[in-house]
Amino acid sequence: MMDASEFADRVAVVTGGSEGIGYDFCRTLCEVGCEVYFCSRNAEKGQLAAKALGRRAHYYQTDLTAPNQIKAFAAYVSELAGRVDYLVNNAANDDRIKFDDLTVEECDRMWALNLRSFLLMSRACLELMRQGEGKSIVNISTSNYMFGLEPFTIYNATKSGILGFTRSLARELGKEGIRVNMISPGWIMTEKQLRKYVTEEDKQALLREQSVKHLIEAKHVSPVMLFLLSSAACAMSGQNLVVDGGRYFQ
Ligand SMILES: NC(=O)c1ccc[n+]([C@@H]2O[C@H](COP(=O)([O-])OP(=O)(O)OC[C@H]3O[C@@H](n4cnc5c(N)ncnc54)[C@H](OP(=O)(O)O)[C@@H]3O)[C@@H](O)[C@H]2O)c1
Repeated sequence: MMDASEFADRVAVVTGGSEGIGYDFCRTLCEVGCEVYFCSRNAEKGQLAAKALGRRAHYYQTDLTAPNQIKAFAAYVSELAGRVDYLVNNAANDDRIKFDDLTVEECDRMWALNLRSFLLMSRACLELMRQGEGKSIVNISTSNYMFGLEPFTIYNATKSGILGFTRSLARELGKEGIRVNMISPGWIMTEKQLRKYVTEEDKQALLREQSVKHLIEAKHVSPVMLFLLSSAACAMSGQNLVVDGGRYFQ
């Protein structure tokens, strides 16, 4: 059984926690008593989020596409907490880019955040994770790449890369007791998705195609994240859990 008390005073790092799914991860981790270190680019939004999350939340402005800023974020955590128990690599850019319009600049911009930052953030936190007790990394991907939806070629190239990264890192760090897993959410009804993309027809299509007949929100992903971080998942590493209402079957 999962015992939430194991999270008390543990140190969790979440990339991109100022809104969307990452914010709900931070909220959940604060609720179970973690000290939560999160980042984003927009400092005003980040500080507002930290205020709403309460005293356990610590915000650091970071552009994860800049390797030196990733190092600075990890150094900030090191200075304040001295260790990392849990790392959740979450921040990504899901811009819809038609393949016809793809440029070298777009490729680099998407890879730098969606995949390179996952590698570099994990690398920057490695020594700190060796000092921690939780020893669990969760990488956020998407079920989108499993369907091969359009126009998402570059997004899905980066998001499917997280699977190979997760599996190889799981093998490499397993000997040290560090577990690495991945979550693939379906289309999540965040404020941004609802504002920018989701139509009434999309909602009806999702409800038709999903096994369970309610739309999926960030609050449905967070418990799965918490489970994978917890010792209840001590026998799981290198795995991918799809959280999409039973739309895609692996
Ligand atoms: N929403 C969905 O339907 C859905 C479905 C499947 C998978 N996912 C995955 O779930 C994760 C979260 O998605 P989301 O929809 O919640 O995202 P979101 O609403 O766009 O939020 C992204 C967060 O990351 C931050 N961020 C963006 N670029 C950054 C950068 N360069 N450096 C630092 N922080 C940055 C944002 O703040 P700033 O903009 O201020 O930097 C924000 O806090 C992503 O990995 C996404 O691929 C989402």
